[in-house]
Amino acid sequence: MNGKPPDAHWRQRMPITFRKLEPKDGIGISEMSSLATGIVREHYDPIIGKAQNDYMLELFHSVDGIRRQLENGSHYFFVQAAGRNIGFLAFFPKGNRLYLSKLYLLKTERGKGYSRLMVDFVMSKAREASLNSVELNVNKNNDSIRIYERLGFKVIRSEKNDIGSGYFMDDYVYAMKTDKWRRSSSLPEIPIAPRIEIH
Ligand SMILES: CC(C)(COP(=O)(O)OP(=O)(O)OC[C@H]1O[C@@H](n2cnc3c(N)ncnc32)[C@H](O)[C@@H]1OP(=O)(O)O)[C@@H](O)C(=O)NCCC(=O)NCCS
Repeated sequence: MNGKPPDAHWRQRMPITFRKLEPKDGIGISEMSSLATGIVREHYDPIIGKAQNDYMLELFHSVDGIRRQLENGSHYFFVQAAGRNIGFLAFFPKGNRLYLSKLYLLKTERGKGYSRLMVDFVMSKAREASLNSVELNVNKNNDSIRIYERLGFKVIRSEKNDIGSGYFMDDYVYAMKTDKWRRSSSLPEIPIAPRIEIH
């Protein structure tokens, strides 16, 4: 040990835990919807415009939208630091891949290195379920592309998806094999969330 901090984020970062959102937890679903709506509204209005974002918020982040996704096999987790929700993530199995549909942090919590811990958690869930890669879509104009690339994801194709009412999602699809994920030695062991079955 040479006395150096383990990584550049050590000053600001707190330990995080992952709290699973259960489909029957109505209060939790409302909490998730408020958290998601706040983050997504602020982040995507400038990228896709308010009208499309309002449409997508209703479809994916409203109470009904989240309930529907939970019923259809999505797994949602709050990301918590010191007992407070600082972000969330969601995923579901897609063939032999784990599809990471959401990875979000409050703006005030970005830049502290939490996303590496979040992706580490997602990779561990994929491996637990014997899924061999993690895949995600990211809007072509979303700066988070740089972060995914830094974390080791590689672009595999472009995709333009019709989401109804005349709106499209113009995305890159990124993927990483679970065996390509390299845990940095400074990452703490993953906080134990209840083991989940991914079907
Ligand atoms: C995506 C998100 C969760 C990432 O979290 P974050 O706190 O901003 O990113 P981190 O601080 O964890 O950075 C992760 C890595 O990317 C690097 N990084 C951060 N910004 C970068 C940039 N602009 N260019 C290159 N690398 C960058 C960091 O240095 C870090 O690398 P390191 O661990 O090797 O030092 C967060 O930015 C977010 O919620 N964004 C808004 C919502 C969004 O776009 N979500 C994705 C939807 S597809």
